[in-house]
Amino acid sequence: MRIELPRKSERFGANVFYGPVPVYELDGGLRNQRDDEPGAIVALPYERLHEVQRQMAIVVPVKGERIRLVEGILFAVPNQCLTIVVSNSPREPVDRFRVEQQALCTFARLARKRLILVHQKDPLLARAFLEAGYPELVDTDGRIRDGKAEGMVIATVIAHLAGKRYVGFVDADNFSPGAAHEYICEYAAGFALAECQYAMVRILWQSKPKYVDGEVYFAKWGRTSRVTNHYLNQLISRYTGFETDVMGTGNAGEHALTLELALRLDYATGYGVEPQHIISLLERFGGERESPFPDVMRSGVEVFQIESRNPHFHKASEESHIRDMTRVALSTIHGSFLCPDTLRRSIEEELQRGGCLQPGESLEPVRRYPALLDMDFDSFRDTVEHRIQATSFEPVLPARGALRRRHAPGRPRWSERFRPTSGQPPTDTGEGVDTDL
Ligand code: GDD
Ligand code: MG
Repeated sequence: MRIELPRKSERFGANVFYGPVPVYELDGGLRNQRDDEPGAIVALPYERLHEVQRQMAIVVPVKGERIRLVEGILFAVPNQCLTIVVSNSPREPVDRFRVEQQALCTFARLARKRLILVHQKDPLLARAFLEAGYPELVDTDGRIRDGKAEGMVIATVIAHLAGKRYVGFVDADNFSPGAAHEYICEYAAGFALAECQYAMVRILWQSKPKYVDGEVYFAKWGRTSRVTNHYLNQLISRYTGFETDVMGTGNAGEHALTLELALRLDYATGYGVEPQHIISLLERFGGERESPFPDVMRSGVEVFQIESRNPHFHKASEESHIRDMTRVALSTIHGSFLCPDTLRRSIEEELQRGGCLQPGESLEPVRRYPALLDMDFDSFRDTVEHRIQATSFEPVLPARGALRRRHAPGRPRWSERFRPTSGQPPTDTGEGVDTDL
């Protein structure tokens, strides 16, 4: 991949936000010495991207998506990445999760692919979070709460236990596997450029096409992202004293983090998760309050924004969904201790204008989940070990416990036992079942 080096950046405490950079060549070829010359555009050879991707988990959150779309995303993930699918698909009246299991199993067999599939409502996962000292994610019914962010948190823990260094997210409702593949290469490109271990890569879509008057119109900004970016930029500007437009990816559903950073940020529920990442960086590493992680303050945080070449085609959203998403996104800014009162009032007026907040109604703070770093990961592993109602195809979770399994002599390794050869997934005998992995 050939990519422009960021020229513009905004510093906020220990954070560096690089302005969006375009890609000049999707495939930059193999390593070539001529490319070692420094310049405005850098060539990242295929080997370098491969090296990063080997250490990367790609997470696909799914809730009731058409199976053809989910499959399209699986085809897009480079073979060297570990794929983690967290499904919150309905199990009744039709068991959509079962359909997903079957499709993934067939795919893993044909593509020789490392995949993990879990269901968000598996009671064992909820128990694992409770016992690991992270009860916030669990609802009163004893299951993990609904929401895309909640699925992302589960997957982040699994990626960490699987020994990965990077975790990237790709929505399952993308119509174009080619675009999803490009995003994953751009994640690798960002990490290849990063100079510190706390880094994030966010994708700025080249366009989000829609039909206007019977023609395809390549819109640049989504309805929510236009507003979220404006207020995030306003927040940064209020502290730096210089108006900025550096932030173009406030709602970037397609983004990736180093695990080191992912474990130190807090999360907002549902679709608030992406703007909350920025708020969390500003709050924790912005220098306005003492940071809980002095090591990050010393090392710094880098945020890359990479502009994709493929347009982003995905399932169209209803107006009410957009309004809810805008509300939750702006609520992450509004609820921050960093947000000045004047900006709070502007946000309220903006939400009222857009019909997202009724006059007199107050904007409730968004539910937040604390950083994962303090979780007891060994306990989590012990709880789910051998028993998660997951379909793990091919060698998956590496070796400490079963998220690093000790091999008992005379017993086939679990990866051998469950390597799908018949095209059928392991028997699913009910929720929370002991599949004895
Ligand atoms: N595991 C899980 N659990 N996945 C979910 C859930 C859930 O409760 N809810 C939704 N998903 C999955 C969907 O199946 C899809 O793959 C992905 O999360 C995104 O959901 P969409 O409903 O398609 O979101 P969107 O298109 O409105 O918004 C996306 O783009 C925004 C930026 O424009 C999301 O990625 C937002 O987070 C992002 O801000
Ligand atoms: Mg979508």
